[in-house]
Amino acid sequence: MRAFILLALLLATPALAQPDPELVRRGEALVNGIAACGNCHTPKGPQGDLPGMGLAGGLVIEEPGLFRAVASNITPDRETGIGAWTDAQIIVAIREGRRPDGRLLGPPMPFQFYRDLGDAEAHAIVAYLRSVPAVRNPVAASSFSMPLPPAYGPPVESVTPRLATAEERGAYLAGPVGHCMDCHSPMGANGQRDLSRAGQGGPPITGPLGPVVPPDITSVGLRGWSDVEIARAIREGVSRDGRRLVPPMAFANYARIPEGEMRDLIAYLRALPASR
Ligand code: HEC
Ligand code: HEC
Repeated sequence: MRAFILLALLLATPALAQPDPELVRRGEALVNGIAACGNCHTPKGPQGDLPGMGLAGGLVIEEPGLFRAVASNITPDRETGIGAWTDAQIIVAIREGRRPDGRLLGPPMPFQFYRDLGDAEAHAIVAYLRSVPAVRNPVAASSFSMPLPPAYGPPVESVTPRLATAEERGAYLAGPVGHCMDCHSPMGANGQRDLSRAGQGGPPITGPLGPVVPPDITSVGLRGWSDVEIARAIREGVSRDGRRLVPPMAFANYARIPEGEMRDLIAYLRALPASR
C-alpha cells in the first residue's frame, strides 16, 4: 500500500513527469523557427548569439522616447528565470503580458499577437522552454516612458485557431505565431499595431546596425515578386534586387520555416489589401 501511494505521488508530481518528446520537438521548431523568441531573449555580441546563453535574457531593446526594455531570462533557472513558474503562469505571461506576481510586461514583447496563440502551440513552446539548459543570469528591470495599461484585455481562456484555408493558416503564422505583423504594420492610436492595415509597413525600428524601416509586404508591396523571391527574402534576408536585408528581422530563425508553412504565409501576404 505504501509503495502504491508513493508511486501515485510520483506520477502526480509535474516536475517528475516525463516531457512528451513530440511536444518538445514541436516547441523547439517554433521557438527557434518562426516564433524567433531568441531574437529578443538571447543576448548577442558582435558574432551574434552569445554561446551558452540561449534564452537567458539581458538583451536591451531601446526605442528612444518609448522604452528601454530588457528581455527576460526565460530559461528554467528557478531564481533568475522562469523555472519556478507553472505552465499556466508561463502561458499567461506570453498571452496576457502578466507575470505571476501581477506585474504587467511591457513592449516590445509581442503579446498583442500572442493573445491569439493557440493552446497547442502555447503548450509546445512551454514544454520546450522547460527543456533548455537553466542559465543563471539576473536581468535588470525594463523602463517605459509611457504608463502601461492596467491590463491588455480580459483573461484568455482557451484558443483554437481557424486553420481551414491557406490564408487562415498564413494569417495565424504571420500574427500569433511569428509576429511578422508587429514590425510590418503601422501603429494605431492606442499604442498597439493597427491590424486593419496589417502588413502595410511599420515605423522605423532600431536594429543592431541602426534604424531600419519595415517595408510594405502586402499584395502591393510584393507586386511582381515571385514566391521564390519572397521565400528567399524571409529565409535568407536577400531582397528582390539582391540587396542584403539587415536585422532585427530574424532571418536565421526563419530559415527553418518549412515549405508548407512558407506557402501558407505567402498566400496570406498576397491576399493582404493595399492601403486605403
Ligand atoms: C520583440 C522582442 C521579443 C520577442 C520576439 C519575444 N519576447 Fe518575450 N519578452 C520581451 C521583453 C522585452 C520582455 C520583458 C518585458 C518587461 O520587462 O516588461 C519579455 C518577457 C517575457 C516573459 C516574462 C518573463 C519574466 O520573467 O518577466 C516571457 C515568459 C516571455 N517573454 C516569453 C517569450 C516567448 C516564449 C517568446 C517567443 C514565443 C517571446 N517571449 C518573444 C521581448 C520579446
Ligand atoms: C523585428 C521586426 C520584424 C519582424 C518580426 C519581421 N520583419 Fe520582415 N522586415 C523587417 C525589416 C526592418 C525589413 C527591411 C530590412 C532592410 O531594409 O534591410 C524587413 C523585410 C522583409 C521583407 C523584404 C521586403 C522588401 O521589400 O525587401 C519581407 C518579404 C519580410 N520582411 C517578411 C516578413 C515576414 C513574413 C515575417 C514573419 C515571418 C517578418 N518579415 C518579420 C522587420 C521585421
